[in-house]
Formats: sequence, C-alpha cells, structure tokens
Amino acid sequence: MEFAEVVRRRRMVRAYDDRPVDPAVVDRMLAHAVRAPSAGFSQGWGFLVLETPGDVALFWETTSGGTGETSRWLEGMRSAPVVVVPMSDKQTYLERYAEPDKGWTDRDETRWPVPYWHLDTAMASLLILLTAVDEGLGACFFGLSPGTHEAFREAFGVPESHVPIGAITLGHRLPDTGPAGSPARRERRTDVVHRGRWGR
Ligand SMILES: Cc1cc2nc3c(=O)[nH]c(=O)nc-3n(C[C@H](O)[C@H](O)[C@H](O)COP(=O)(O)O)c2cc1C
Repeated sequence: MEFAEVVRRRRMVRAYDDRPVDPAVVDRMLAHAVRAPSAGFSQGWGFLVLETPGDVALFWETTSGGTGETSRWLEGMRSAPVVVVPMSDKQTYLERYAEPDKGWTDRDETRWPVPYWHLDTAMASLLILLTAVDEGLGACFFGLSPGTHEAFREAFGVPESHVPIGAITLGHRLPDTGPAGSPARRERRTDVVHRGRWGR
C-alpha cells in the first residue's frame, strides 16, 4: 500500500471479526515500533503483547472497571484477538540524560517541560497503528483509566517503573461502516496550520 494511502485509511477500529492475527504480523508491528524516534535514543519504552484468549480476557477484567465507556464499546473492543500495551519508562530518560554527552546529572525532572518518555512511546504506538493498516488489519489506541493501573500491573507483573500510556487493540476489521466515534460527530479542523506568524 502507498504510504499516503496508509495514512489516509488509518482510523480507530473498535470491533473485529473472529479471525486470529498472524503472529508474524504482530512481530512486524513491534519491529516497526522500535524504529520510532526517541530523545537521546533513550528508547525508554516497553510493549506488553497479549495474544492468547486468556491473557486478553484478563486484560479486560482488570482494566474495564473504570473506563466509563458504554458496554457496546467494550463488547466491540473485547472482540480483538490481540492487545498491545505500550509503556513508558521515565527513569531510562533521566539516566540517559545524566550521561556525559547530555550532562543532566541532577536528573531533575523540571528539565523536561514535555515528558518525552510518553511522547516517544506515543510515536512508537503510531507506528503500530500505521503498520496495522499496511497489513490490512484494524487497530484502536485507547486510554486506560488510572484507577485500573494497579490491578493491571499486578495481573501481568508490570514493574512500577513502567506506565501504560494506553493500549492498542488489534484484529481483522469488520466491513467498513464509515467514520465511527468522535469523527462521526466532529469535523476535521482546518485552522491549525499557521504560516510565518500565528494567526495567519
Ligand atoms: C491519546 C488518545 C487517547 C484515546 N482514547 C480513546 C479511548 O479511550 N477510547 C476510544 O474509543 N478512542 C480513543 N482514542 C481514539 C480517538 O477517539 C480517535 O483517534 C479520534 O476520535 C480520531 O478518530 P480516528 O483515529 O478514527 O481518525 C484515543 C486517541 C488518542 C490519540
């Protein structure tokens, strides 16, 4: 698929059919994820891949408590055979930037007005979403309610150092029924590019 076509076709898919996903496709997604840029090449990310029915069921058991989403949303999302949880690791950045070529030996978090650990993990997540489209699959990035982090961590042995920035469902998309979720109700903004000076 042409790159422009991949970008144009990408949209969040919130319901899947029952075909399994080829593990080789998941491998390719993760291989692309780690090609994402990262500040200082810190690569302070980690990806928990859940691809057995038991693990996926446990994921939903531990995380669906406080999402506030409708049960229809949950029903659709639960039909995904694979869930990938991208996680960011702040400490890796603080340590990387304390190295001689960066020199921030105080490891002071106020040096980071934008938390690049989350940013880089988000860039890796986008590569997963785009690879899904390129592979003819569907995917959805969604947020995890903070109230569910503890149960999620405990269920999957995730250390405190790693923060799930969200999760990605993955599977074969059902026949396309047009824009879903917020894009069905909102227009894409066209007033966000400013050339030369803000406001123009
Ligand atoms: C950081 C982030 C969090 C999101 N959280 C959710 C979510 O919790 N539930 C959901 O259904 N979609 C979620 N989405 C998907 C957005 O609703 C979706 O990207 C947006 O409406 C644009 O639609 P599109 O991606 O299909 O083009 C999230 C997207 C991002 C980038």
